[in-house]
Amino acid sequence: MTDPVFHGKRVMPLQVDKLVDRDIRGKKVFIRADLNVPQDEAGNITEDTRIRASVPTIRHCLGQGAAVMVTSHLGRPSEGAVGPEDTLAPVAVRLGQLLGQPVKLVTDWVDGGFTVEAGQVVLLENCRCNVGEKRDDETLARKMAALCDVYVNDAFGTAHRAEASTHGIARFAPVACAGLLMGAEIDALSRALGNPRRPLVAIVGGAKVSSKLTILKSLAEKVDQLIVGGGIANTFLLASGKRIGASLAEPDLVKEARAVMDAMRARGAEVPLPVDVVVADEVSALARANKIAMEEVGPNDRILDIGPRSAAQLSRIVADAGTIVWNGPVGVFEHAQFAGGTKMLASAIAHSQAFSIAGGGDTLAAIARFDIARDVGYISTGGGAFLEFIEGKTLPAIAALEARHRGQ
Ligand code: 3PG
Repeated sequence: MTDPVFHGKRVMPLQVDKLVDRDIRGKKVFIRADLNVPQDEAGNITEDTRIRASVPTIRHCLGQGAAVMVTSHLGRPSEGAVGPEDTLAPVAVRLGQLLGQPVKLVTDWVDGGFTVEAGQVVLLENCRCNVGEKRDDETLARKMAALCDVYVNDAFGTAHRAEASTHGIARFAPVACAGLLMGAEIDALSRALGNPRRPLVAIVGGAKVSSKLTILKSLAEKVDQLIVGGGIANTFLLASGKRIGASLAEPDLVKEARAVMDAMRARGAEVPLPVDVVVADEVSALARANKIAMEEVGPNDRILDIGPRSAAQLSRIVADAGTIVWNGPVGVFEHAQFAGGTKMLASAIAHSQAFSIAGGGDTLAAIARFDIARDVGYISTGGGAFLEFIEGKTLPAIAALEARHRGQ
């Protein structure tokens, strides 16, 4: 079998050492996880997917009799001190519940001075509060590497950051390998993008073309159907000469949107655009929604969802897909009157025989809201990392593991 190629680069099999292949009995293991979870104002964790996704690697290490240190960033704190909103304390509690054993939180850990026995796990306080973390400081990376026998990177969600705990440490630890979650993410994304079953359908929703322009351009070279949604679709509608009233759009990016459509058309591929929409004059839970044909959109209308005919059209595309990559909703699904399009799309994805992969905060929220998690082929824990992988970018944390594998 030849190696799959994405954006001209080989994406699979990625050549990294894997935790499952290492003998870690009695070893000190340092796991960089991504436990960056949302919290409410009181510090309660509101969504714990990333913690649950990190458990298998930790359990595997404990089961092998390793002494386990886990760290993660939380938020984007200033370096040098751990503020009350920066602490991983709530994460330690939740992790302990999930593992069924105590997880002690260790502060000021960079220079060592703490103990962890075989079969125990400690959580090392927010690594992004350490001075030098964000600039991938070599001294800090060497200190962290000195704490362990084996470095495990399981933080796919942070793989697009070249920081001391995601990148530098991989150069200096005695062994550097990918954890179970990292391995699963790489495999699923490579499968969807490296050698996809056709037709390959991408769904890119969200407010702004500008924040997803690179991804739209790179997908335009690759996919058979590119479904755009939300404010992004509005800019594409403008680009195809439609009237969008007072809808959110970026008129200065119309040229770029047209270029994406032209690139797709030149390959015989398509960007299907809505034929009917749901409009209102404001975005609010109380807004009165109207379902109208595209041609009926008036000057004060704001397009906040796709209409039923468009949703049915997209559902057919999704039903016939071989592979689906989903990032972003097609309407303001947080409000019930604008949720119909995303709900129908979610249901079509859930029922499709295609291999589907989804990622990004809004997408995960939609998956939870419409309760289709068990019907999606793979749900990525990555937000920015997921997008950058799809763009075909090299993720520095994965590149560092590959370099170690090559003996560099
Ligand atoms: C995320 O939430 O996408 C990851 O944890 C990365 O966080 P960052 O964007 O603050 O690096």
